[in-house]
Amino acid sequence: MIEEAIEALKRGDFIFIFDGEGREEETDIVIASQFITPEKIRFMRREGGGLICTTLPKNYADKIGLPYLHEIFQRSGYPIFKYLTPKVRYDTMPSFSITINHRDNFTGIPDKDRAKTIKEFAEFLNKIEKIEKPMKEFGEEFISPGHVHLLISSGLEKRRGHTELSTAIVSMAGLIPSATIVEILAKDGNSMSKEDAMKFADEQGIIFLEGKDILDAWYKWSE
Ligand code: 5RP
Ligand code: CA
Ligand code: ZN
Repeated sequence: MIEEAIEALKRGDFIFIFDGEGREEETDIVIASQFITPEKIRFMRREGGGLICTTLPKNYADKIGLPYLHEIFQRSGYPIFKYLTPKVRYDTMPSFSITINHRDNFTGIPDKDRAKTIKEFAEFLNKIEKIEKPMKEFGEEFISPGHVHLLISSGLEKRRGHTELSTAIVSMAGLIPSATIVEILAKDGNSMSKEDAMKFADEQGIIFLEGKDILDAWYKWSE
């Protein structure tokens, strides 16, 4: 199943990832960021309906100088953030970083704008080794705040969220290490149950993976 999921990602297709029992117990729609298009954003918006986010590994975030959002808030000195310290009920910490727009966007929210931001972001990560001043060049291409939420993957050794699971599988596929993900909400507004998400995946011909499938493969891959 993991090999089929990797092949699907390499073709630019979606896969579904359920994190695991006892965590969020949510299923996210996942695509390798390099293959995002306005049509793919539309599908994620309509069939997922959660928050569309784009991941990057921690070492890439460090090269650009991108912090976690909670670090920015805690260091800002604004007293309000003393009261808003994050306490995630299902994990050690949130993976949120800043929001961005590509400088060519007008508002940043239409499908074509978000697709442009995400695609250019993936391409930026791909060329990062060759960039002399990543922070400066990042600022020449993107602005913040924007309409694409960045999530920093701490790596599966530290955290086992959709952020880390999706980043790990696109990396195992040999693709640019960024995934774009969105939670699937049901018609009643709740997170879609695992059973319904599996049924939905089946109807759509999309591979359904669980976090543990990715973890097993990742342990073997990183040996
Ligand atoms: C952003 C989220 C989602 O849960 C997303 O799946 C990433 O978070 P995590 O890594 O905690 O699963 O919070 O919409
Ligand atoms: Ca989350
Ligand atoms: Zn999640």
